[in-house]
Amino acid sequence: MTTSGSTAPVSGLDRGRGAPALPAHVAVIMDGNGRWAAARGLPRVAGHRAGAEAVRRCIRAAITRGVGCLTLYAFSSENWRRTPDEVADLTALLRYYLRHKVAELCREGVRIRIIGDLSRFDADVRDEARRAEDMTAANTRLTLVLALSYGGRADIVQAAARVAFAARSGTIDPAELDEALFSRFLLTADVPDPDLIVRTSGECRLSNFLLWQSAYAELVFIETLWPDFDEHHFDAALDMFARRERRFGARPAL
Ligand code: IPE
Ligand code: IPE
Ligand code: MG
Repeated sequence: MTTSGSTAPVSGLDRGRGAPALPAHVAVIMDGNGRWAAARGLPRVAGHRAGAEAVRRCIRAAITRGVGCLTLYAFSSENWRRTPDEVADLTALLRYYLRHKVAELCREGVRIRIIGDLSRFDADVRDEARRAEDMTAANTRLTLVLALSYGGRADIVQAAARVAFAARSGTIDPAELDEALFSRFLLTADVPDPDLIVRTSGECRLSNFLLWQSAYAELVFIETLWPDFDEHHFDAALDMFARRERRFGARPAL
Protein backbone atom coordinates (compact mmCIF):
# COMPACT_ATOMS: atom_id res chain seq x y z
CA MET A 1 0.00 0.00 0.00
CA THR A 2 1.20 3.48 -0.73
CA THR A 3 1.45 5.82 2.19
CA SER A 4 0.86 9.25 0.80
CA GLY A 5 2.65 10.92 3.69
CA SER A 6 5.94 9.17 3.18
CA THR A 7 7.30 10.60 -0.03
CA ALA A 8 4.73 12.90 -1.62
CA PRO A 9 5.71 16.57 -1.89
CA VAL A 10 2.80 17.39 0.37
CA SER A 11 3.73 20.09 2.83
CA GLY A 12 1.03 19.46 5.42
CA LEU A 13 1.36 15.70 5.40
CA ASP A 14 5.10 15.97 5.71
CA ARG A 15 4.79 18.11 8.78
CA GLY A 16 2.33 15.87 10.59
CA ARG A 17 -0.26 16.92 13.11
CA GLY A 18 1.59 19.58 15.01
CA ALA A 19 1.06 21.94 12.08
CA PRO A 20 2.91 25.23 12.30
CA ALA A 21 0.82 28.35 12.63
CA LEU A 22 1.89 29.78 9.29
CA PRO A 23 0.85 27.97 6.10
CA ALA A 24 3.71 27.36 3.70
CA HIS A 25 1.36 27.64 0.75
CA VAL A 26 -1.78 29.79 0.56
CA ALA A 27 -4.06 29.48 -2.49
CA VAL A 28 -6.79 31.97 -3.23
CA ILE A 29 -9.94 31.71 -5.33
CA MET A 30 -10.39 35.36 -6.17
CA ASP A 31 -14.14 35.67 -6.64
CA GLY A 32 -16.71 38.46 -6.65
CA ASN A 33 -15.39 41.02 -9.14
CA GLY A 34 -18.64 41.07 -11.11
CA ARG A 35 -20.82 41.54 -8.02
CA TRP A 36 -18.50 44.29 -6.76
CA ALA A 37 -18.98 46.16 -10.04
CA ALA A 38 -22.73 45.51 -10.20
CA ALA A 39 -23.17 46.91 -6.68
CA ARG A 40 -21.68 50.17 -7.96
CA GLY A 41 -23.56 50.25 -11.25
CA LEU A 42 -20.29 49.66 -13.10
CA PRO A 43 -19.47 47.25 -15.94
CA ARG A 44 -17.90 43.93 -14.94
CA VAL A 45 -14.53 45.00 -16.31
CA ALA A 46 -14.36 47.68 -13.59
CA GLY A 47 -14.60 44.87 -11.05
CA HIS A 48 -11.78 43.00 -12.75
CA ARG A 49 -9.62 46.13 -12.76
CA ALA A 50 -10.25 46.67 -9.05
CA GLY A 51 -9.55 42.98 -8.53
CA ALA A 52 -6.11 43.41 -10.06
CA GLU A 53 -5.31 45.96 -7.34
CA ALA A 54 -6.39 43.43 -4.73
CA VAL A 55 -3.94 40.97 -6.29
CA ARG A 56 -1.12 43.40 -5.55
CA ARG A 57 -2.26 43.79 -1.92
CA CYS A 58 -2.47 40.03 -1.52
CA ILE A 59 1.02 39.44 -2.92
CA ARG A 60 2.40 42.14 -0.63
CA ALA A 61 0.68 40.56 2.38
CA ALA A 62 2.07 37.13 1.51
CA ILE A 63 5.58 38.57 1.26
CA THR A 64 5.43 40.54 4.52
CA ARG A 65 3.86 37.64 6.45
CA GLY A 66 6.55 35.25 5.21
CA VAL A 67 4.32 32.85 3.31
CA GLY A 68 6.59 30.99 0.90
CA CYS A 69 4.09 30.16 -1.81
CA LEU A 70 0.95 31.91 -3.01
CA THR A 71 -1.31 30.53 -5.72
CA LEU A 72 -3.90 32.79 -7.31
CA TYR A 73 -6.79 31.39 -9.32
CA ALA A 74 -7.09 34.10 -11.96
CA PHE A 75 -8.90 32.32 -14.80
CA SER A 76 -10.47 28.87 -14.81
CA SER A 77 -10.78 26.49 -17.74
CA GLU A 78 -14.52 27.14 -17.48
CA ASN A 79 -14.14 30.93 -17.60
CA TRP A 80 -13.78 30.63 -21.39
CA ARG A 81 -17.59 30.22 -21.28
CA ARG A 82 -17.98 33.91 -20.47
CA THR A 83 -18.92 36.38 -23.19
CA PRO A 84 -16.20 37.16 -25.74
CA ASP A 85 -16.14 40.74 -24.42
CA GLU A 86 -15.46 39.67 -20.86
CA VAL A 87 -12.80 37.15 -21.95
CA ALA A 88 -11.15 39.91 -24.02
CA ASP A 89 -11.22 42.28 -21.02
CA LEU A 90 -9.68 39.67 -18.75
CA THR A 91 -7.03 38.80 -21.33
CA ALA A 92 -6.18 42.47 -21.83
CA LEU A 93 -5.72 42.93 -18.08
CA LEU A 94 -3.53 39.85 -17.91
CA ARG A 95 -1.46 41.09 -20.85
CA TYR A 96 -1.02 44.51 -19.21
CA TYR A 97 0.10 43.08 -15.86
CA LEU A 98 2.47 40.56 -17.43
CA ARG A 99 4.00 43.28 -19.58
CA HIS A 100 4.27 46.08 -17.06
CA LYS A 101 4.29 44.65 -13.54
CA VAL A 102 6.54 41.61 -13.67
CA ALA A 103 9.77 43.62 -13.40
CA GLU A 104 8.56 45.13 -10.12
CA LEU A 105 7.66 41.69 -8.74
CA CYS A 106 11.05 40.43 -9.85
CA ARG A 107 12.79 43.21 -7.90
CA GLU A 108 10.82 42.14 -4.82
CA GLY A 109 12.16 38.59 -5.10
CA VAL A 110 9.02 36.94 -6.47
CA ARG A 111 9.35 33.82 -8.59
CA ILE A 112 6.43 33.44 -10.98
CA ARG A 113 5.12 30.03 -12.03
CA ILE A 114 2.16 29.59 -14.31
CA ILE A 115 -0.17 26.59 -14.35
CA GLY A 116 -2.98 26.01 -16.82
CA ASP A 117 -3.59 25.54 -20.51
CA LEU A 118 -1.77 28.53 -21.92
CA SER A 119 -2.30 27.28 -25.47
CA ARG A 120 -5.78 28.80 -25.38
CA PHE A 121 -4.38 32.32 -25.02
CA ASP A 122 -3.03 34.46 -27.87
CA ALA A 123 0.64 33.92 -28.71
CA ASP A 124 1.73 37.26 -27.25
CA VAL A 125 0.17 36.43 -23.87
CA ARG A 126 1.83 33.02 -23.92
CA ASP A 127 5.17 34.68 -24.68
CA GLU A 128 4.76 37.22 -21.88
CA ALA A 129 3.85 34.42 -19.48
CA ARG A 130 6.96 32.42 -20.35
CA ARG A 131 9.08 35.57 -20.13
CA ALA A 132 7.72 36.24 -16.64
CA GLU A 133 8.67 32.74 -15.56
CA ASP A 134 12.14 32.98 -17.07
CA MET A 135 12.86 36.45 -15.73
CA THR A 136 11.93 35.50 -12.16
CA ALA A 137 13.19 31.91 -12.12
CA ALA A 138 16.05 32.54 -9.68
CA ASN A 139 13.99 34.39 -7.07
CA THR A 140 13.29 32.79 -3.72
CA ARG A 141 11.34 35.19 -1.52
CA LEU A 142 7.86 34.19 -2.69
CA THR A 143 6.76 31.66 -5.28
CA LEU A 144 3.71 33.13 -6.98
CA VAL A 145 1.74 30.50 -8.89
CA LEU A 146 -0.73 31.98 -11.34
CA ALA A 147 -3.53 29.62 -12.36
CA LEU A 148 -4.52 30.73 -15.85
CA SER A 149 -6.98 28.73 -17.92
CA TYR A 150 -6.51 26.18 -15.15
CA GLY A 151 -8.81 23.29 -14.35
CA GLY A 152 -8.18 20.68 -11.67
CA ARG A 153 -9.70 17.86 -13.69
CA ALA A 154 -7.71 18.83 -16.79
CA ASP A 155 -4.57 18.86 -14.64
CA ILE A 156 -5.24 15.29 -13.48
CA VAL A 157 -6.05 14.14 -17.02
CA GLN A 158 -2.88 15.64 -18.52
CA ALA A 159 -0.87 13.98 -15.73
CA ALA A 160 -2.53 10.63 -16.45
CA ALA A 161 -1.80 10.99 -20.16
CA ARG A 162 1.86 11.80 -19.50
CA VAL A 163 2.11 8.85 -17.10
CA ALA A 164 0.70 6.60 -19.82
CA PHE A 165 3.20 7.88 -22.38
CA ALA A 166 6.06 7.46 -19.89
CA ALA A 167 4.94 3.90 -19.15
CA ARG A 168 4.67 3.08 -22.85
CA SER A 169 8.14 4.40 -23.55
CA GLY A 170 9.54 2.52 -20.56
CA THR A 171 10.54 5.63 -18.58
CA ILE A 172 8.42 4.51 -15.65
CA ASP A 173 7.22 1.13 -14.45
CA PRO A 174 3.42 1.20 -14.00
CA ALA A 175 3.80 -1.16 -11.04
CA GLU A 176 5.73 1.58 -9.24
CA LEU A 177 3.14 4.29 -9.75
CA ASP A 178 2.07 5.74 -6.42
CA GLU A 179 0.72 9.10 -5.23
CA ALA A 180 4.15 10.68 -4.94
CA LEU A 181 5.16 9.66 -8.46
CA PHE A 182 1.80 10.72 -9.92
CA SER A 183 2.12 14.14 -8.25
CA ARG A 184 5.29 14.73 -10.22
CA PHE A 185 3.27 14.73 -13.43
CA LEU A 186 0.83 17.37 -12.21
CA LEU A 187 1.32 20.99 -13.26
CA THR A 188 2.16 21.74 -9.62
CA ALA A 189 5.00 19.21 -9.45
CA ASP A 190 7.49 21.74 -8.09
CA VAL A 191 5.29 23.37 -5.46
CA PRO A 192 3.93 21.92 -2.21
CA ASP A 193 0.22 21.24 -1.86
CA PRO A 194 -1.75 24.21 -0.49
CA ASP A 195 -2.14 24.25 3.28
CA LEU A 196 -4.84 26.90 3.14
CA ILE A 197 -7.36 27.73 0.40
CA VAL A 198 -9.24 31.01 0.75
CA ARG A 199 -12.27 31.87 -1.38
CA THR A 200 -13.84 35.30 -1.35
CA SER A 201 -17.41 36.39 -2.15
CA GLY A 202 -19.27 33.89 0.02
CA GLU A 203 -19.30 31.05 -2.50
CA CYS A 204 -18.43 27.75 -0.83
CA ARG A 205 -17.05 25.61 -3.63
CA LEU A 206 -13.74 24.84 -5.31
CA SER A 207 -14.89 25.46 -8.91
CA ASN A 208 -12.36 22.97 -10.31
CA PHE A 209 -9.36 24.45 -8.47
CA LEU A 210 -6.43 22.21 -7.42
CA LEU A 211 -8.66 19.15 -6.94
CA TRP A 212 -5.88 16.64 -6.28
CA GLN A 213 -3.69 19.10 -4.37
CA SER A 214 -6.46 20.26 -2.01
CA ALA A 215 -6.91 16.83 -0.40
CA TYR A 216 -5.93 18.10 3.06
CA ALA A 217 -6.07 21.86 2.60
CA GLU A 218 -7.87 23.92 5.21
CA LEU A 219 -10.70 25.81 3.53
CA VAL A 220 -11.66 29.34 4.50
CA PHE A 221 -14.62 31.07 2.88
CA ILE A 222 -15.10 34.77 3.46
CA GLU A 223 -17.93 37.06 2.42
CA THR A 224 -15.71 39.91 1.20
CA LEU A 225 -15.77 40.49 -2.56
CA TRP A 226 -12.33 40.11 -4.12
CA PRO A 227 -11.79 43.80 -5.06
CA ASP A 228 -12.22 44.70 -1.36
CA PHE A 229 -9.64 42.14 -0.21
CA ASP A 230 -6.64 43.53 1.68
CA GLU A 231 -3.98 42.51 4.20
CA HIS A 232 -6.52 42.43 7.05
CA HIS A 233 -8.49 39.72 5.28
CA PHE A 234 -5.24 37.88 4.59
CA ASP A 235 -4.35 38.04 8.29
CA ALA A 236 -7.86 36.94 9.31
CA ALA A 237 -7.53 33.87 7.06
CA LEU A 238 -4.09 33.11 8.57
CA ASP A 239 -5.63 33.40 12.05
CA MET A 240 -8.38 30.94 11.14
CA PHE A 241 -5.78 28.57 9.77
CA ALA A 242 -3.72 28.80 12.96
CA ARG A 243 -6.77 27.79 15.03
CA ARG A 244 -7.53 24.70 12.94
CA GLU A 245 -6.39 21.29 14.09
CA ARG A 246 -4.97 19.42 11.13
CA ARG A 247 -5.28 15.69 11.62
CA PHE A 248 -4.56 14.11 8.23
CA GLY A 249 -6.75 11.19 9.23
CA ALA A 250 -4.83 10.43 12.39
CA ARG A 251 -6.21 10.46 15.94
CA PRO A 252 -7.38 13.84 17.22
CA ALA A 253 -4.98 15.46 19.68
CA LEU A 254 -6.00 14.84 23.31
C1 IPE B 1 -13.72 36.53 -10.28
O1 IPE B 1 -14.83 37.34 -10.23
C2 IPE B 1 -12.90 36.76 -11.52
C3 IPE B 1 -12.90 35.61 -12.45
C4 IPE B 1 -13.56 34.49 -12.27
C5 IPE B 1 -12.12 35.73 -13.66
P1 IPE B 1 -16.16 37.00 -11.04
O2 IPE B 1 -16.05 37.61 -12.40
O3 IPE B 1 -16.45 35.54 -11.01
O4 IPE B 1 -17.23 37.79 -10.18
P2 IPE B 1 -18.70 37.33 -9.79
O5 IPE B 1 -18.62 35.96 -9.20
O6 IPE B 1 -19.50 37.33 -11.06
O7 IPE B 1 -19.16 38.34 -8.81
C1 IPE C 1 -13.76 30.57 -9.96
O1 IPE C 1 -14.71 31.60 -9.97
C2 IPE C 1 -12.63 30.89 -10.88
C3 IPE C 1 -11.81 32.03 -10.51
C4 IPE C 1 -11.91 32.73 -9.42
C5 IPE C 1 -10.77 32.36 -11.45
P1 IPE C 1 -16.01 31.52 -10.88
O2 IPE C 1 -16.79 32.74 -10.57
O3 IPE C 1 -15.65 31.27 -12.28
O4 IPE C 1 -16.72 30.20 -10.31
P2 IPE C 1 -18.23 29.73 -10.34
O5 IPE C 1 -18.68 29.80 -11.77
O6 IPE C 1 -19.03 30.67 -9.48
O7 IPE C 1 -18.21 28.35 -9.77
MG1 MG D 1 -17.48 34.35 -9.76
